[in-house]
Amino acid sequence: MALNYSLLLLLLVLPGALPFIIIPSQGSMTHADITRTAIVRQLTQVCRSRSSADGAALALQDEGMSAARLLTTCFQLDSLPKFVEAFEVIKDSNVRVDIRHVFDEEYHFDSETFEDGRSLISSGLSFIKGSIQQGNFREARERLGQICHTLQDFYSHSNWVELGNTLPNSNLLKSGVSIGNIADVNTPTCTDCIDNNCENNILPEVIQQQKLTSGYFSLTSSHKPDGKCSHGGIIDLTSHQSPVGGINKDKTSASHGHLHSTAAEVATNATVQLLEDIRVSVGDSSFLRLMGITRSSVLCFVIDTTGGMSDVIKEAKRVASSIIDSTQGTANEPSDYILVAFNSSNVGPLSHTTDSGKFQQWMSSLTAGANGAQTVLSLSATEMALRAVPASSYIFVFADAPAKDSYLMSTVTALIESTRSVVNFMLTNPIVSRRRRSYGAEYVSRVSNPANQLYQELAQASGGLAIEVAAASLPQATNVIVDSTTSALVSSFFVRAAHALVLFSSFSE
Ligand SMILES: *[C@@H]1O[C@H](CO)[C@@H](O)[C@H](O)[C@H]1NC(C)=O
Ligand SMILES: *[C@@H]1O[C@H](CO)[C@@H](O)[C@H](O)[C@H]1NC(C)=O
Repeated sequence: MALNYSLLLLLLVLPGALPFIIIPSQGSMTHADITRTAIVRQLTQVCRSRSSADGAALALQDEGMSAARLLTTCFQLDSLPKFVEAFEVIKDSNVRVDIRHVFDEEYHFDSETFEDGRSLISSGLSFIKGSIQQGNFREARERLGQICHTLQDFYSHSNWVELGNTLPNSNLLKSGVSIGNIADVNTPTCTDCIDNNCENNILPEVIQQQKLTSGYFSLTSSHKPDGKCSHGGIIDLTSHQSPVGGINKDKTSASHGHLHSTAAEVATNATVQLLEDIRVSVGDSSFLRLMGITRSSVLCFVIDTTGGMSDVIKEAKRVASSIIDSTQGTANEPSDYILVAFNSSNVGPLSHTTDSGKFQQWMSSLTAGANGAQTVLSLSATEMALRAVPASSYIFVFADAPAKDSYLMSTVTALIESTRSVVNFMLTNPIVSRRRRSYGAEYVSRVSNPANQLYQELAQASGGLAIEVAAASLPQATNVIVDSTTSALVSSFFVRAAHALVLFSSFSE
């Protein structure tokens, strides 16, 4: 029942809208339906390729899985509202083409406007990729909706399906390549429908010669070139003139309604192909952002800059670069970066960016002060970080002295609980320099310096680690951080997925 419930939920959160044409019609696929189905199919593909990259065996069924379940299982529980919002923008802009561009034939591939229609799609596609690169996701979604409309209309308004094609015409996405053998304006393409039956109204020689044509359409004039097919339907004045009738497949009751579901299926696959073209070009993480799916995971470094920390700062830079390099372009790539510096008398300012390059620049400009300190404002700095991060973030605190502000312990603990963030401490003030040993799970164990006890409690409360290490051994120890970050991102993702499934099954009872 869980699946049925989530399908129901999906219907509630993703309201359908205008059809492949304007008035909803029973048993017919609308533009919104086609776009939604294509997006879910495409995200299923992304999910499958990612889960095999993560080495995880997520059992996904192609068609059976609702968008809600797909997103919560594969991506992130929190992403559903943002996905719905992104989808609404794409869908609304798709549907608006029937209102804003009702008289612009090329937006619908009406009246054999093949070159202009294709050019709307291919130039729209370049615009979308450019907008994504510049971070203009809203504009990209609006244009995506618009070109999806035109692309989908190709399959409903042309004779592509009647010519026996079951694969999308992928050349519609490109410029400068032939999209087929287009019937010229002097080539007759249709004959009269008989008794309102249009099933065989396309001329046999057009089919034989594989000539591409589309229906003429006008709300204001019955004129069309001699012998041309019309769109069809009462409102299309050209369809009342010989050859009477039409060829559109907008709904099951349309002139070529017998081919509606085939046309809708090819249009869906063509939309998937369009989405895949964008994904390949901009990469998974930008594509997922386009779809409103972001992990909103923040990488946050909180660094002690008192004297004696220069080796540690250098190492922190290396760790940051290493995390950034190993997650770049993957689903684990942090969406935001935060840096908080502190010493014995000062905290902050907090610097926040979505640009990993900028973050690395900030890290590079950090320098250690002249003097060491007995105690530092480490909890104030951790508090500042926790107040800035979204839920489920990863915070790394580098310190080499006990907290001067231990009175903040309960505040920081409460923030850790409310943000469900993981705080790791790298402490470079062990009491005795340890024997060389392998670094790994042992770090979960006790810290040697009693003054570090508080750090360890905080780390444990958050599910993080307090790693105590002599500055000289830092590079070996920080590898543990890098590994734990990449794997922590993954494991917490599975924890959330499991949580989502529990929620869904409990709703369904
Ligand atoms: C559309 O794509 C699906 C999934 O790849 C495939 O199973 C189906 O046969 C395709 N439909 C058509 C009409 O080609
Ligand atoms: C602490 O940091 C502030 C701001 O960077 C700096 O002005 C100050 O000199 C530092 N204090 C010590 C003791 O390092």
